[in-house]
Amino acid sequence: MELKGKTAIVTGSARGIGEGIALVLAREGANVVVNSRKVKDCEVVVQKIVSSGGKAIAIGGDVSEKADVVAMVSETIKQLGAVDILVNNAGIEGTPCLTKDLSEEQWDRVLGVNLKGVFFCCQAVIPQMMKQGQGRIVNIASTAAVRMTFFGSLEYTVSKHGVAGLSHHLAWELADSHITVNTVCPGGVQTPLMEAGTTPEYREMTIKRLIPLGRFTTMEEIGEAVSFLASDRAATITGQMLAVDGGLLTGFGEDLRAVVRTRMESMKAGAH
Ligand SMILES: NC(=O)c1ccc[n+]([C@@H]2O[C@H](COP(=O)([O-])OP(=O)(O)OC[C@H]3O[C@@H](n4cnc5c(N)ncnc54)[C@H](O)[C@@H]3O)[C@@H](O)[C@H]2O)c1
Repeated sequence: MELKGKTAIVTGSARGIGEGIALVLAREGANVVVNSRKVKDCEVVVQKIVSSGGKAIAIGGDVSEKADVVAMVSETIKQLGAVDILVNNAGIEGTPCLTKDLSEEQWDRVLGVNLKGVFFCCQAVIPQMMKQGQGRIVNIASTAAVRMTFFGSLEYTVSKHGVAGLSHHLAWELADSHITVNTVCPGGVQTPLMEAGTTPEYREMTIKRLIPLGRFTTMEEIGEAVSFLASDRAATITGQMLAVDGGLLTGFGEDLRAVVRTRMESMKAGAH
């Protein structure tokens, strides 16, 4: 129970990775704000936490709307008295298409939630964390924060690179206020977002070709990484990016592995 008594806001936590994070933080003793655009969508996760002995409340609000974010943070302070941990998880998928076919509306929609939403949430909690003399911000980016997304959408990749940049800047800016800012980069996690955007064949191919450990990460495994970064064990870790991706960023899925093995075998055979 290393987060006992801490208050954590987890954006977009009515399902998927956000739900996994909310459940793990609650298991570790945090009082959790479950957020999604519609408050009623949050109730199932709140009930799961409460029925296993934890504390959680539901606060609706769209992270891409500044007024909603400000209201969410002030409601959190009103009901729970503090904001110790902010997890910026809410995010949406982009459109897999060529850049020449991408509309301005599609660009604005994804950047609005995935990047501007993170900015609004950070901006809203910083004064409170400063008042408290410490804080933890964990941003959920993606392996698309350092490479392109295997979903093939430009604006998604750009939004996640932006989250990495925002995290680096804020880690520096907030260090003397004892607020750490880190980024978790999931690779593939089988969530409603992933299922809506892919076929089972595509998911199987992704695992086989891109993920050395041979499976997607679970939502709870992302929660474990977030929980660590939010804990006292990570007190001097800031400005870091932690890939929780089954090895995806090593680049050694099946195809690359075959290339590397061929090279090793030819070296052994004295071909070079
Ligand atoms: N699933 C993956 O494989 C994967 C991989 C890398 C990164 N991610 C990132 O992880 C995060 C969560 O993804 P997921 O797969 O769990 O998605 P999901 O669609 O399953 O869940 C996202 C949640 O966020 C909420 N949400 C969406 N827009 C919102 C908004 N404007 N305001 C408030 N809530 C909003 C949704 O209602 C939903 O509850 C996203 O930032 C995503 O980019 C996911």
